[in-house]
Amino acid sequence: MNLANPSTTTIQTALRVAERKLFPFHETARIDAEVLLAHGINRTRAYLHTWPEYMLSSEQLHHFMSLVQRRAAGEPVAYLTGIREFWSLPLTVTRATLVPRPETEVLVEQALHRISTATSSHIADLGTGCGAIALAIATERPASRVVATDIDTQALNVAHQNAEQLDIPNVEFRQGTWFSPIMGERFHVITSNPPYIGKNDPHVSRGDVRYEPRCALIAGHDGLEAITIIVSGAKAHLFKQGWLIVEHGHDQQGSVIKLFAAHGYENIQGISDYTGHGRIVMGQYLPLPT
Ligand SMILES: C[S@@+](CC[C@H](N)C(=O)[O-])C[C@H]1O[C@@H](n2cnc3c(N)ncnc32)[C@H](O)[C@@H]1O
Repeated sequence: MNLANPSTTTIQTALRVAERKLFPFHETARIDAEVLLAHGINRTRAYLHTWPEYMLSSEQLHHFMSLVQRRAAGEPVAYLTGIREFWSLPLTVTRATLVPRPETEVLVEQALHRISTATSSHIADLGTGCGAIALAIATERPASRVVATDIDTQALNVAHQNAEQLDIPNVEFRQGTWFSPIMGERFHVITSNPPYIGKNDPHVSRGDVRYEPRCALIAGHDGLEAITIIVSGAKAHLFKQGWLIVEHGHDQQGSVIKLFAAHGYENIQGISDYTGHGRIVMGQYLPLPT
C-alpha cells in the first residue's frame, strides 16, 4: 500500500463512513463499500478485514470516496470496478454490457444438464452481452463449440476480450440480430437471456438498471418481443432432440410456457431462480417421424 502521503483515516473508518453514505440508497451498503475499497486500493476484501487499522493514503481515500459518491448516485458496483464474477469467472463488464445476474447461473446449470460431457456439442448463446453464459458453458464443456452472438459490437468486443483474458478457446463471437449470425446452422442447445422488460415498465428508470444499455433490457410493449422471435425461430436451428433454454422476467413464466407450447416444443419446463421466482423456460425440439 502506498503510504507516501498518509491520511489519518484507517480502512475501518473509511468503510464505516462509506457504509453510512450508501445505506439510504442500497441494502448492500457494507458489501458495496468493501468491494469498492478493495478495488480502489488493489487489495482483496480479506485484506480489509485483516488490516482494519491500516491508514489509507490521501490519494487512496480520495479515490475511494469518489467511487462511493458515484455508487450513492446509483452507478452499479460492477461498472465502477469494471468486473463482475459469474460462475466463478471474473468477467470484464462495461456500460455496453448488462451486468450478469446470479439468477442467470440457473440457466447455465440447466444448459449443462443437457450438454454431453463426453462428446462435442454445438451450443449457441444469443444476446451474449459480456459473454457470461457462453463462457461459463465453454469452460465446463471444453470439448463443445459455443457460438456467442450479439447485435451490439461493443458488447461483443467485451465478450471476446473476456474469452481471451480467461483463455477460453472454444467460443466464437459473431455480430448480428438473433438468428442472422447462425443462418443455416443447427445446435444441440440454444441459450438466451434476451431483453424482456416492457417499454413503459417503471423499473427501467429506477436503481442500477438506469445505467444499463436499453438494448439489453427493453423488448417492445410487453417485454416479450425478443423471446417471441427466439422461440418462434429456434426450432430451425436445433438438431432433433435439441433444447432451447431462455431466461425471462419474474412474472412472464406463464406467457413464455404458452409460447413454447404454441410453437410445438416438447418436454416444456419452467424453472425458478434461487429466490423462488419463475425465471427459465426450456423446451425440446422433437419433430414427428416422417
Ligand atoms: C439481458 S442482456 C443479456 C446479456 C448476457 N447474456 C447476460 O446474461 O448477462 C440481452 C443482450 O441481448 C442483446 N440483444 C438485444 N437485441 C438483440 C438482437 N436483436 N439480436 C441479438 N442480440 C440482441 C443485447 O445487446 C444484450 O447484450
